[in-house]
Amino acid sequence: MVKVWGSMLLSCVLAAPAAAQQRQLVEICAGCHGVDGRSNTVPIWGRIAGQNYEYLVYVLKLYRAGGRDGVNAGMMTSYVRRLSDAELADLARYYAQMK
Ligand code: HEC
Repeated sequence: MVKVWGSMLLSCVLAAPAAAQQRQLVEICAGCHGVDGRSNTVPIWGRIAGQNYEYLVYVLKLYRAGGRDGVNAGMMTSYVRRLSDAELADLARYYAQMK
C-alpha cells in the first residue's frame, strides 16, 4: 500500500512540471494556430485541432527533422527542433482531442 501511494505521489510530482511545460508550449503554438487550433488567421497554416493523432506525430517529427519543404515549413521547424518525442506526442494528443 505504502508503495502504491509512493508511486502515485511520484507520478504527480513528475506530471506537474510536464503539464506546466505543455501549457507554455501550447501558448506558443496558439500564437500562430490560434487557441482553438484552427489557424483561422492564416488558413493555409493548417487546422490542427481534431486532426488525427498519428498524423500530428508524423508531421511534427517531419518538421523537426527539417523534412518538409516550402516557404513556411522553416517556421515550424524552429519551434519543434528542440522538442523530444514525448513532448511532440503530448502536443499531438492535446490537439487531436481538441474539437
Ligand atoms: C510562428 C508561427 C508558428 C508557430 C509558433 C507554430 N506553428 Fe505550426 N505551422 C506554422 C506554419 C506556417 C505551418 C505551415 C507550414 C507549411 O506550409 O508546411 C504550420 C504547420 C503546422 C502543422 C502541420 C499542419 C498540417 O496540416 O500539415 C502542425 C501539426 C503544426 N504546425 C503544429 C504546431 C505546434 C504543435 C506548435 C507549437 C509547438 C506550432 N505548430 C507552432 C506556423 C507556426
